[in-house]
Amino acid sequence: MVTVLSDTFSLVNTWINELRNVDIQQDRLRFRRNMERIGEIAAFEISKGLETAQREITTPLDRITVMEVAVQPVITTILRAGVPLFQGLLNYLDQADCGFVAAYRQHDANDYFSIKQDYLTCPNIDGRPLIVADPMLATGASLIEAIKDLLNHGKPTQLHIVVAIASQQGVDVISKEYPDAKIWVGVIDPDLTEKGYITPGLGDAGDLSYGEKLQR
Ligand code: URA
Repeated sequence: MVTVLSDTFSLVNTWINELRNVDIQQDRLRFRRNMERIGEIAAFEISKGLETAQREITTPLDRITVMEVAVQPVITTILRAGVPLFQGLLNYLDQADCGFVAAYRQHDANDYFSIKQDYLTCPNIDGRPLIVADPMLATGASLIEAIKDLLNHGKPTQLHIVVAIASQQGVDVISKEYPDAKIWVGVIDPDLTEKGYITPGLGDAGDLSYGEKLQR
């Protein structure tokens, strides 16, 4: 199931516009914060479908029965571009456990790339909802690789994939590979460039958050 968060106009549209705008996106603090905000909205939406449990709490005046999250999710992301979107999810689902995957595009002399993954740390995800934050879903290659490795850490009850901007191709690939996954996406763009960038997209989310890296 794919939910596009900007299909009905809301502040999400404004934040995506600012992420894309070639002038506004130069403000790194604003860029990261807008990614976080999309993560926060996605967390709120995801929370509506989490398993709940009843608990008694004491207020200064009475005892009442309330509903709360029964099983805390595991929130994961792919370093480094995923960190602000991940942080937004964690701001709201603030008792979750977390996991990290390090993956990067290794570029050749012609600026074509392959995905390299070299580090993963993740708690047990057996019987818990798994949330994977990937801000830019382009071909889906790095996301499939990351989810495959994360699923070695147990069988989750739900799989949520949270994306700020996706290509239509990426959404199709992930929906086919994980038909039971819930995909929460800010917006879906029509195309990918031949170098694998989403277009119109926003450029390089990692560089815009943290500065340009050396390509080695
Ligand atoms: N990663 C990015 O940062 N941007 C894209 O367009 C695709 C992947």
